Amino acid sequence: MKLNSTGIALAVVATVAAGSAWAVRDEPIQPIQPAKVTNPAKVELGKRLFFDPRLSRSGFISCNSCHNLSMGGSDNLQTSIGHNWTKGPINAPTVLNSSMAVAQFWDGRAKDLKEQAGGPIANPGEMAFTHDLAVDVLQSIPGYVAEFKAVYGSSRVEIDKVTDAIAAFEETLVTPGSAFDKWLQGDDKALNKRELAGYKLFKDSGCVACHNGPAVGGSSFQKMGLVEPYVTKSGAEGRAGVTGKDEDRFNFKVPTLRNVELTYPYFHDGQAQTLEEAVDVMGRLQLGRKYSKEEIGQIVAFLKTLTGDQPSFILPLLPPSSNETPRPVPFD
Ligand code: HEC
Ligand code: HEC
Repeated sequence: MKLNSTGIALAVVATVAAGSAWAVRDEPIQPIQPAKVTNPAKVELGKRLFFDPRLSRSGFISCNSCHNLSMGGSDNLQTSIGHNWTKGPINAPTVLNSSMAVAQFWDGRAKDLKEQAGGPIANPGEMAFTHDLAVDVLQSIPGYVAEFKAVYGSSRVEIDKVTDAIAAFEETLVTPGSAFDKWLQGDDKALNKRELAGYKLFKDSGCVACHNGPAVGGSSFQKMGLVEPYVTKSGAEGRAGVTGKDEDRFNFKVPTLRNVELTYPYFHDGQAQTLEEAVDVMGRLQLGRKYSKEEIGQIVAFLKTLTGDQPSFILPLLPPSSNETPRPVPFD
């Protein structure tokens, strides 16, 4: 930070802009803090792995295929397309800000990002590989071996290190700097009247009971269809699939509403095509409240202020395969 004769004043303004705790408005939603990178080499390795389609059987599908970081960390499809054009059973949630969630997946079956990252590689309907084969591929690529050695002190590639590095990269995928965060940090001009009215409605009508905290969600499992049942063709059971308890049936992790403008379509079955539709459904099914068109418009205007600075970096270059690298099997 540059200091001049007005150095103190500048420093104060800069701290406010960076979101220091004392400056933040007392609201049920808190600003997102920028990622603190402690091990940049690990993050770089994780970034490469996130973009590397050689972690899939076909050699074609990477994490980024379904969590496209150019599209809000999602695929914008009702349900994802996996290996051999397999139709996925559930909508892909965004990876943006997913480090803030209590658990991973709609039903919370993975406790954290590291545990989650092993799932898709070996899922026959997603990347359709095995952990052993993924490790064999990486071990055969000299560029990766050198990187694993630099980060983990050993040339031995292990699935545990693969998922650890991917998780470290995912922890950097946070989106501070949204208009709403600027408002939370004291900038009165960051929101216009309509957006502010939308936030007031969101808060006063009870959306914040479930969508709260820095991620505006992700902090609890809640029943979809609390007041009125949700009608869906999807077979997803929600949390009950993990706990085996009947009272957890149709409980899903409350999704983050950060960047929700980018992550359409909505809900675990991807049934709501637009934000307007999703807000209307939430109002009726979760709160027993039928919003007018104008009210929905206001809430949607507020939700769009939750779009933050998207992760920006140079597209990673992937080290080439060697003659020993097992070849992809794109067609079964
Ligand atoms: C074929 C598409 C596909 C691929 C490839 C894929 N995912 Fe996913 N991802 C999904 C779907 C669908 C879900 C939701 C599954 C569920 O909840 O049951 C998901 C869930 C997640 C979540 C949980 C987010 C949350 O809010 O609960 C994270 C994190 C994630 N994936 C990261 C990854 C990583 C890392 C990779 C690469 C190793 C990857 N995904 C590969 C489709 C995919
Ligand atoms: C009782 C808890 C609860 C309340 C209250 C609630 N929500 Fe939700 N919200 C959820 C759950 C759970 C989901 C995921 C449901 C699913 O996918 O089946 C969700 C999903 C959403 C989604 C879709 C996000 C996505 O990525 O798919 C939006 C948008 C949303 N809520 C907005 C709102 C608004 C606006 C309100 C107030 C009118 C509200 N919610 C009230 C629990 C709640």
